[in-house]
Amino acid sequence: MNPCAPVSACRCCGGGRLESVLDMGDMPLANDFHNGEARPRFPLHLLVCQDCWHGQLSVAVPGEALFRHYAYLSGGSRTFRDHCRQLVAAALGLVSVPGGRPAVLDIACNDGTLLSLFRDAGCDVMGVEPARNLKRYTDRLGMPVVNAFWGTDAALALGRKFDVITAQNVLAHVPDPGDFLAGCAACLNAGGVVLVEFPYSLEMVTRNEFDTVYHEHLSYFSVNSFARLVGRSPFHIADVTRLSVHGGSLRFTLRKGPGPHTPAVGDLLQDEQDAGMFRLSTYREFRERVGASRTQFRALVAGLRAVGEKMIGYGASAKGVTMLNHFDVELDYVVDDTELKQGRLIPGRTIPVVGPEVLRREPGRLNIVVLAWNWLAEIRERVRSLRGDRDNLLLYVPGVYCCDLAPREGVTA
Ligand code: TYD
Ligand code: ZN
Repeated sequence: MNPCAPVSACRCCGGGRLESVLDMGDMPLANDFHNGEARPRFPLHLLVCQDCWHGQLSVAVPGEALFRHYAYLSGGSRTFRDHCRQLVAAALGLVSVPGGRPAVLDIACNDGTLLSLFRDAGCDVMGVEPARNLKRYTDRLGMPVVNAFWGTDAALALGRKFDVITAQNVLAHVPDPGDFLAGCAACLNAGGVVLVEFPYSLEMVTRNEFDTVYHEHLSYFSVNSFARLVGRSPFHIADVTRLSVHGGSLRFTLRKGPGPHTPAVGDLLQDEQDAGMFRLSTYREFRERVGASRTQFRALVAGLRAVGEKMIGYGASAKGVTMLNHFDVELDYVVDDTELKQGRLIPGRTIPVVGPEVLRREPGRLNIVVLAWNWLAEIRERVRSLRGDRDNLLLYVPGVYCCDLAPREGVTA
């Protein structure tokens, strides 16, 4: 495997004034589910650029190690499928292809969830995806998918152009986001749009979503930092929308050349200014709040263990892996509905991942840490349908708290 590449200049603006925000030391890869064998660890250190305030990791683990085999499936969540339906409607409202079927490219198309919705809407679809193990899902759906990492080389190799290009939760994963956008420009038809989505750094900082920091996420974009990147690309930002998915995300509409943008862009820049995103003290306060959550969560776990209570997790998310390792806690097991994760151990821990059927057999009350807190409503319903109302749900973002928890002696959250 290639060694990690340290970041030498800001991935958005090219500036060199990178400051430490949160150093978690050497950590396992968040999707490296294992069977007990020794696995590699890599530095997990969040920095922020003092010129454009782009958040970024100090080193890039090679994409070959992260994305050739991928355990995350887009279609696993109903909420996310609904979100994709809404994206399809928005995208098709932005282009007009007289007399023809819009050609759609989905970059990092994962299991083909979004592509199949575009196809159902009458589009001519194509995907690009580096994970080889996901091919069986897209094959099952009959999707044409090229196995590649995105950039100008992959774009030119496609040899065709598109009216709509979508890139959900992938731009933050790439070491050279400028080349990523250049690739989009190379295969976009005149009048076409690029729709890019990624988690919003303002949400991460203000809501203490420290666990969205893991090796796959090289970048933590704000409107300010993304605008700097786009300013160095062939595109302009035409629009931006805030989304609730993944703990709070942004969707940008990009069009080629210079052009106007909606007032939403200026409004969000003002929000960032108001939230203190352009000063270092905000990031220091974020680090302090994460430290306080760690202390509080460890005390909660110790308290529950002391009174002999079982503690499990729901949703073996990458975020949960960051939390369990950074907070250094063990759980009895983690339930996940994804078959690919079941029967294996949580990265960096010895916690087994099991299927939901285990919950049906559990007597008594459980303390369930919602590790995929971005799907809280869905997971709460899932637990209720499997077990009724008897359990306690525990959350650690934006702070440590219990929901559905009747106060009990000896345990404080
Ligand atoms: P997610 O938060 O989507 O992503 P990330 O890994 O990027 O942090 O991960 C959610 C995990 O939770 C995923 O492994 C699927 C699982 N899950 C369930 O098992 N059941 C559910 O009902 C939902 C919504 C998620
Ligand atoms: Zn910068």
